Amino acid sequence: KYSRSYFMPPVTSRKWMEKEYITEAPVWCSVDLRDGNQALVVPLTLEEKLEYFQLLVKIGFKEIEVGFPAASETEYTFLRTLIEQNLIPDDVTIQVLTQSRDHIIEKTFESLKGVNKAIVHLYNSTSLAQRDQVFKKSKEEIIDIAVSGAKLLQKYAAATEGNFIFQYSPESFTGTELDFALEICNRVLDVWQPAADNKVIINLPATVSLSMPHVYASQIEFMSDHLNHRENVILSIHPHNDRGCGVADAELAMLAGGQRIEGTLFGNGERTGNVDIVTLALNMFSHGVDPQLDFENTPEIRAVYERLTNMRVHERHPYAGKLVFTAFSGSHQDAITKGFKWREGKESEHWKVPYLVIDPMDIGREYEGDIIRINSQSGKGGIGYLLEQQYSLDLPAQMRESFGYNVKNVSDHLNKELMPHEIYDIFIDGYVNI
Ligand code: KIV
Ligand code: ZN
Repeated sequence: KYSRSYFMPPVTSRKWMEKEYITEAPVWCSVDLRDGNQALVVPLTLEEKLEYFQLLVKIGFKEIEVGFPAASETEYTFLRTLIEQNLIPDDVTIQVLTQSRDHIIEKTFESLKGVNKAIVHLYNSTSLAQRDQVFKKSKEEIIDIAVSGAKLLQKYAAATEGNFIFQYSPESFTGTELDFALEICNRVLDVWQPAADNKVIINLPATVSLSMPHVYASQIEFMSDHLNHRENVILSIHPHNDRGCGVADAELAMLAGGQRIEGTLFGNGERTGNVDIVTLALNMFSHGVDPQLDFENTPEIRAVYERLTNMRVHERHPYAGKLVFTAFSGSHQDAITKGFKWREGKESEHWKVPYLVIDPMDIGREYEGDIIRINSQSGKGGIGYLLEQQYSLDLPAQMRESFGYNVKNVSDHLNKELMPHEIYDIFIDGYVNI
């Protein structure tokens, strides 16, 4: 029933395998306010969009797709508000999405009047499935849509004041024959004639992810190797997460030549979401590479995100989930507390605390309450550590052990987590016999 519906690149496209990690931050483009917003049960209001935009600016995004202004009144008004109230910082470029239709492109440029700089993002669907089932058009007709859209962008940009960067996406790229994807992108590039002072963006979306990450990466490498005017093209990638591999897709695609990433905070977006930029950036950070985004206060970012989108960041979400730095189990607690002891006075050394991928404090997490928590799975190390840290009680080894058993038993019996003050009370009241 499920047969392969993606297209394998030639085996020559595998150079990315030689690279070990990503050495510099890509250009990040947030699509929270467009792809993310279009997938919400209740899309953001104007005020919420404005607040979300400020959040993205604060995090450090320099490119932000703000919507599809020709498609809805709110999106149009939001864009006009940003421009008329001068809310776009000089170092931030907004991006707008448009289909390849004259009246839509006209309205898109109308919505951009007065902007200093903007990316105009043109897309049309190119996959075999979309051509056959949705559009019932030949390859040449699909190319015509892209090429005529590319020319319309030039026409309206010339008639509108402002500095415009063009972007083209062959939507459903991952279901498109590679030679056809290349041909359509090159035909668009030949219209736009990118130059060193007029670069354009080619964005290759895994609109639906269909393959394993190494296949997507090899597709990106193939395109990177064969695009016309390559030196003046910024190669962008836009993974979705249908197979749960959005982050892996993005990381391998970056090794394969992707220079720019479109994604969202915590992976909100159509269906299983867009690629999660928080995870990508902090993965990079964990390799000692500056992601050029500020996630020093992830709890606050998570709280604003949850309030505005009405979505919840899962407890196990990498880096930002409430439980991802927490150890309940005794052996993990023991290793972590020993790691913390080792680290005292060695803060400048490489982070080597067992079980903790990064120092949680670097992203605004607390040691207290976030790391060592006590239940029936816990051990003497963790329990002793909490008493020492929070109550300056340094128990002798034997006492730690027997008190540890006692606390575990209480937790087991009550079938609940014990808070530090409850552990302290047990200690002060004398060991409890249960
Ligand atoms: O996923 C997708 O293909 C898109 C395009 C509009 C780039 O969101
Ligand atoms: Zn998308």
